[in-house]
Amino acid sequence: MKKITKAVFPVGGMGTRFLPATKSIPKELLPIIDKPLIQYAVEEAVEAGITTLIFITSATKHAISDHFDPMPDLRAQFIKQGKHHLAEKLDTLPLEIQRVFIPQGQPLGLGHAVLQAESLIEEDEMFAVLLADDFIEADSNPLSCLIEHAHQQQKATISVEQVAADRISSYGVIGAQAWHDDLAQVSEIVEKPSVENAPSDFGVIGRYVLPHSIFQRLRHTDMDHNREIQLTDALKQTLQDEGLQAVKLSGQRFDCGCQEGFVMANLHVAMENPDLAKKIKQSIK
Ligand code: UTP
Repeated sequence: MKKITKAVFPVGGMGTRFLPATKSIPKELLPIIDKPLIQYAVEEAVEAGITTLIFITSATKHAISDHFDPMPDLRAQFIKQGKHHLAEKLDTLPLEIQRVFIPQGQPLGLGHAVLQAESLIEEDEMFAVLLADDFIEADSNPLSCLIEHAHQQQKATISVEQVAADRISSYGVIGAQAWHDDLAQVSEIVEKPSVENAPSDFGVIGRYVLPHSIFQRLRHTDMDHNREIQLTDALKQTLQDEGLQAVKLSGQRFDCGCQEGFVMANLHVAMENPDLAKKIKQSIK
């Protein structure tokens, strides 16, 4: 069984909910205080043992590549000035981690974005997918947990979380057989159901470990009414043919693809910093 060492970061979306900021700044580079969303996701992946990062990008997102480039001159200057803490902040990615950037061409949905990684994944290899706009604060690494279950069972494994009734229709939602601790076999998966038709309140969130066979399924997945290829539709086929398992997220997730989630994530992280927390509380008073 091959180790899971590759992760796909779909960053080709248009981020329309953050216009005009996203005219020139990729949504994934919006910061939670001082660190961009994509860096949190990359750090999670590297900590989970990922050694190849595959970014599926659009033409306007060169800044993501720039963000992970080393800056040796500035780094040397900071070190010369004794500003080691600033030099460290420039080290956004260990040099031994491989980065690959693939253009998506057109934003035809998450499924289409994942499909672009096909040539980089071997047939007997499982790989991770991380959506950087799902910002997660957890005691244990969420991706490590998924990888462990996927590797043990050699089965596609997705991360889920209970979502509020008024948000159900924005998620892929699963039906599950009995939960054993945080793990369940999925019995059904539906993209954006109404509350009445949802098989449960467990929504799929932005962490997946997928087998190579997902590519073939994506190639045969029709576009939806928005002309997008949905990953959930391909997962339905995976569920039918190979089985699919779900892991409950243990931790707190913020949907930073929407403004409310993004502001809440910033507040949450700010409140963890005693200095900032004190100033914010004072000014709110
Ligand atoms: P979203 O639907 O949340 O992102 O996709 P979006 O389309 O950029 O956002 P809005 O709705 O216009 O504000 C979830 C993830 O999938 C990626 C996005 O970059 C995001 O990380 N994605 C989406 C792609 O890579 N390509 C796509 O065609 C669509």
